Amino acid sequence: MEKELKTITFTVIENGTRIPIVTRHGSYPNLMYLLKEELQLESFGECGGVGRCATCVVKTKGITGNSALKERNEPATLSKLGFEEAAIRLSCQIYITADLNGAEITVLEI
Ligand code: FES
Repeated sequence: MEKELKTITFTVIENGTRIPIVTRHGSYPNLMYLLKEELQLESFGECGGVGRCATCVVKTKGITGNSALKERNEPATLSKLGFEEAAIRLSCQIYITADLNGAEITVLEI
């Protein structure tokens, strides 16, 4: 049986502009790559997604499930920059899954 491909929809806010994103599970290795590609962001995700450079910082609202948890290098990297708020995340540590459905992702300039 063919695997069902479910649509994932969420909103990205960049420089005050709301951009609807429609994608599929695993369409990119993680949210950082999706944002970098879809929004053509320069100097975004410079460490390639290992969670150390913090050039992929976003503010999140409405992410659910395991995607809402900060794991691996993420808490330490964000803490070094003074980001303790649960909503502030490294986009490279968030996979493209149904946990993003209905979420709002704001790209932060740091
Ligand atoms: S790409 Fe470097 S921390 Fe996310």
